[in-house]
Amino acid sequence: MRILSGIQPTGLPHLGNYFGMMKSAIELQEKGESFYFIADLHALTTVRDPVALRHNSREIAIDFLACGLDPQKSCLFRQSDIACIPELSWILSTVTPMGLLERCHSYKDKLAKGLQASLGLFSYPVLMAADILAYDSDVVPVGKDQKQHLEVTRDIAVKINELYGDVFKLPEPLIREESAALPGTDGAKMSKSYGNTIELFLEEAPLKKKIMGIQTDSTPVESPKPIEGSAILGIYRHVASPTDYAAMEADFLAGGKGYGDFKKRLFSAIWEYFAPMREKRKSIAADHAVVDRILHDGAERAEAIAQPVMNRLKKAVGLA
Ligand code: ADP
Ligand code: TRP
Repeated sequence: MRILSGIQPTGLPHLGNYFGMMKSAIELQEKGESFYFIADLHALTTVRDPVALRHNSREIAIDFLACGLDPQKSCLFRQSDIACIPELSWILSTVTPMGLLERCHSYKDKLAKGLQASLGLFSYPVLMAADILAYDSDVVPVGKDQKQHLEVTRDIAVKINELYGDVFKLPEPLIREESAALPGTDGAKMSKSYGNTIELFLEEAPLKKKIMGIQTDSTPVESPKPIEGSAILGIYRHVASPTDYAAMEADFLAGGKGYGDFKKRLFSAIWEYFAPMREKRKSIAADHAVVDRILHDGAERAEAIAQPVMNRLKKAVGLA
């Protein structure tokens, strides 16, 4: 089984990224051949700061390694190091109906947020299809927000197969339903583009500050607190044991405790959950050369898989 996923270096990895994608990706490396990449070409559709792009790409690699990605088992690489991906994306774009892309929520959401419509933003799902199809991927672990992009990938693969014979394998998304959308500090889906993130490896003081800043309603301390839609509980669910989670929910319902108290419990749970990974991160971050080598080796191995797939497609369409 071949597993593949990507994450954009539009910021530093946060709790939503970890529980939505990174955790399953790391667990899956035991189950098959896995390919995880930093989607820097995708990030170019929104990031205009070259220093930040370079910095975040490296930090994501370090975070992934700290969280348990094993470079012996998985291939970790930068999307832009695989030269044939934009070429593949072009070929796929020639069979992609406009309507398919016009229906994409993420494109419409980005425009609604005020991003300027660009060709890159519009064809984002085609580049993503290239990422997935280039490695004959079987399974793609992603958060729920990426489900539609996986459907587009499958539609494009089917179209190529109909036109040119069996060129592509059809990939399956792997979506952890329980992590549908981890809430951010404002209660909306945690996302790098909403400025509501809690990054995985913040120092103690900034982490505390972010958690104390989680938006809550004005229910008085003595009154029961609403469970539905609570960002505190929505995050705590992931980092606490089932018993601790049940205890917090009961305290919400009982009243008599304020949000400050719940936030302190949330802080401790996050701090402890990531403690072993935080330690590991320090040693990885200290050695720049090791991270560079892992990314370089990863790109070589990924390219070796993508090249024959690319040749197969070129031959099928009449380019080779
Ligand atoms: P962001 O929205 O922060 O820019 P990305 O688009 O880079 O994150 O997403 C990387 C992976 O993390 C994707 O598989 C995505 O579905 C997942 N993900 C991102 N935010 C969340 C969230 N709040 N809850 C669950 N999964 C998420
Ligand atoms: N679009 C994905 C996201 O924003 C990142 C991504 C790019 C990706 N290429 C991919 C994810 C291929 C899975 C497979 O999260």
